[in-house]
Amino acid sequence: MGSTELIQTESSDGILTLRLNRPEKKNALNLRMYQALSDGLRKADEDEAVRCILIVGCDDCFTSGNDLADFISSPPVGADSPVLAFLGAISRCRKPVVAAVNGAAVGVGVTMLLHCDLVYAGESASFQLPFVNLGLCPEAGSTLLFPRLMGHQRAAELLLWGEHFSAAKALEVGIVNAVLPDGEVLAAARAKALQVAAQPAASVRLTKALLKQEYEVALEETILLEAVHFVKRLQSPEAGEALQAFMERRKPEFARFA
Ligand code: COA
Repeated sequence: MGSTELIQTESSDGILTLRLNRPEKKNALNLRMYQALSDGLRKADEDEAVRCILIVGCDDCFTSGNDLADFISSPPVGADSPVLAFLGAISRCRKPVVAAVNGAAVGVGVTMLLHCDLVYAGESASFQLPFVNLGLCPEAGSTLLFPRLMGHQRAAELLLWGEHFSAAKALEVGIVNAVLPDGEVLAAARAKALQVAAQPAASVRLTKALLKQEYEVALEETILLEAVHFVKRLQSPEAGEALQAFMERRKPEFARFA
């Protein structure tokens, strides 16, 4: 696999690995990366040789979420945006998806985990859902999936306050399956991917589909509804202030907005 590719893909032993590779920007996801991820996921779903997908970041960062500069220069506008293509691909993926999280997981770096089937995190991983902090709203169906996973109050705490939280907290609220020493996360996640790849594939796919069938339609609707609001919120003065503040490396000031 090419070392300069923003999303490195490697296929071996029935596992397709998608590696986020933009370390100088903490793996912030730009449009090309979303497109490469959704292409990779869709191809993996169709390729009989692939029995499990493994998503990994760098040693010190899973992903810092959507590229904030892209929110200004090329915001998502419609149903055919690369962001929505990615969310569609990961939420509809029929094969098991395993994620290995080291370092920071921010925004979509956390919400994508809700669409994975098994998530391992390093003990120093740190999580944050700063959608409200940025004047935006949550995405990826997270307003449906978070309360379903952890109850309203704990979902509201993570989404309204938007503070950093630890791997231990992510484990407690059910976002991750296990917290491991940082250096062991990738190998453990790959071992689990190999294990499920050895299971009868049709049975694995059927069980994943059955696990999700109760809320599948509601999830698609929620992803689209959140996206409509998200696109509008990107035009809001609060989001403008938050994005400007990030670029200027200062705290945003929201007091003047009602
Ligand atoms: N979009 C665009 N660039 C980003 C980015 C993002 N989401 N996250 C980090 N970067 C860039 C920084 O601007 C910086 O670029 P520079 O070296 O050209 O100035 C570089 O990545 C390193 O980031 P830095 O903030 O110095 O690293 P850190 O280790 O101190 O902090 C984070 C890492 C992830 C905690 C921090 O970068 C962060 O909070 N990023 C924003 C996350 C966010 O709000 N995402 C959107 C969610 S919807």
